[in-house]
Amino acid sequence: MNLLLTSLFLLFFFFFFFFFQSYSVLSLRMLEADPCGPTSHRDPRTLRSDQITILINGFSESRIPLLQSITAAYSASPIVSAVLVLWGNPSTSAQTLEELAHNLTLSSFGSAAISLFRQPSSSLNARFLPRPTVETRAVLICDDDVEIDSKSFAFAFRIWGANPDRLIGFFARSHDFDLSRKEWIYTVHPDRYSIVLTKSMILKTEYLFQYSCGGGAAMHRMREIVDRMRNCEDILMNFVVGDEVNAGPILVGAERARDWGDARNDKDDIDDGRRGLMGEVAQVGLSSRRGEHRKRRGECIREFHRVMGKMPLRYSYGKVVNSVGEQGLCQKGRKLVFCDQ
Ligand SMILES: *[C@@H]1O[C@H](CO)[C@@H](O)[C@H](O)[C@H]1NC(C)=O
Repeated sequence: MNLLLTSLFLLFFFFFFFFFQSYSVLSLRMLEADPCGPTSHRDPRTLRSDQITILINGFSESRIPLLQSITAAYSASPIVSAVLVLWGNPSTSAQTLEELAHNLTLSSFGSAAISLFRQPSSSLNARFLPRPTVETRAVLICDDDVEIDSKSFAFAFRIWGANPDRLIGFFARSHDFDLSRKEWIYTVHPDRYSIVLTKSMILKTEYLFQYSCGGGAAMHRMREIVDRMRNCEDILMNFVVGDEVNAGPILVGAERARDWGDARNDKDDIDDGRRGLMGEVAQVGLSSRRGEHRKRRGECIREFHRVMGKMPLRYSYGKVVNSVGEQGLCQKGRKLVFCDQ
C-alpha cells in the first residue's frame, strides 16, 4: 500500500516535472486564440508613448545571424520597450525556433527583451495582428534584412511623436492614374509619394487592430485580396491609414539604411534607402520580374479601390531629414526648408 502510494506520488512528480520543464523550455509564445478579442485591444491611454515596440518579421533561417544583430541593436536602444520577432516560416522546425528563442534571450540581456512568436499562419496579414504584449502607443514594423542607423530611427520616432496619426517610413512609393489605360497603377514619382513600405514603418499601435479587426465586410475582403495576391499588405495599411486621416505618409531620410533583401524578400523594384527621393528614378530600368511585381502591386491598388469604392491614398511631398540642429528639414523641390514652413 505504502509502496503503491509512493510510486503514484513519484509518477505524478515526474509527470509535473516534465510537463513544466518542457513548458518553460518552450518559451515560444503562441498568439491568443482570438486576436480581435477584448484582451487584444488595450485602451491607448494605458500605453506609453516615450518608447516604441519593434515588430520584426523573421522568415529565412539563413538570415538568422543578421536577424540577431538587428534585434540586438534595437534592444539596446533606450527608446525601445520590447522587440518581438514574428516568425512567419511554417517549415522551420520547433527545435530551431527554441534555439533561436534561447539565443535571442541571451542577446537581450540588460536591455529591452527580445521574444519570439511563431506566426499562426503564413498569411501576410499576420504581421499586423494586434498583440496584447505591446505596451507602447507606437510600433515599428520592419523586415529582418533592413538596417536603419540608430540616430535616424530615433529621429523617425520623434517625427512620429509630432504626427502620431500618420504613417512614418524610410522607403516610399506611389500610386497614380494611367490616363491612357484609365486605371490605377503602382509607380515611383521623383517628387512625391503616397505609400511607405513595411521594410521599415512606424505607426500607431491602434492601426494594427483597425487593419486586422475593423472595417467590416469590406476590410475582410481586402485582407482576402492580400492573401490571394500574397503581396500588398503594406499597400493595404496605407489605404487604411489614408482613409482614416485623409493625409499621406511621411518619408524620413536615413543616414544609413541597408537593405539586404534576397530574392524572396525582393518585394519591391527599387532599393532606395539613403539615396534621395529624387535619385532613385534612374534605376527604374525594369527587368521583367520587377515589371511583373509592379503589375501585381498595381492590381492590388485597383482591387482595394474597387472594394473601398474610393481612393484614400494621398500624396506627400519632400522628405524629412535630420539636420545638424536636430530640427526637421523638408526637401521641397531642390531646396531644404523647415518642415513647418
Ligand atoms: C544559437 O547560438 C549558438 C551558439 O552561438 C549557435 O551555434 C546556434 O547556431 C544558434 N542557433 C540559432 C537557431 O540561432
